[in-house]
Amino acid sequence: MTIEMLIGTASWLIMVLGYYQRKHRRSHIMLMLTAIFSDLGLVIFLQITRKASQTALEFSLPLLQQLHILFSLLAVISYIPVLLLGAALIRGKTGLLPYHRVVGMATLILRTLGFVFMFSMLKN
Ligand code: HEM
Repeated sequence: MTIEMLIGTASWLIMVLGYYQRKHRRSHIMLMLTAIFSDLGLVIFLQITRKASQTALEFSLPLLQQLHILFSLLAVISYIPVLLLGAALIRGKTGLLPYHRVVGMATLILRTLGFVFMFSMLKN
């Protein structure tokens, strides 16, 4: 397991923990922001060191690895609405809670699928 995979695993675990803390506003927010920004840091690092998006766009990787890329990409895209809706909730727009819940759940599912398929990247 590489250091990048360990960071990806840690940030997934933090996101799962953040989900279980969803009724505890302060820790929910802190854990989710930590998970999201460590993921974004990892994406930037992989782009700089491995030209990750170019490799992805060549579509030359095996199917399971492509699925890891697809689900991880969709998860990162969904961070935008989840962050915006979370910020709106903090500002008191409680009517948006059902939307945040749905988008948050979709994000967690996508990130979990990305995490599971990450293991297809393991080299023997
Ligand atoms: C993948 C990331 C996230 C997921 C899966 C998620 C999921 C959820 C869920 C399911 C709830 C509803 C809790 C309930 O049942 O009442 C919730 C509430 C909330 N979330 Fe998130 N969330 C995420 C990220 C964020 C972020 C980044 C922020 C802030 C920027 C945020 C702020 C909030 C707030 C303020 C509430 C209301 C808490 C309360 O007062 O009950 N969330 N979240």
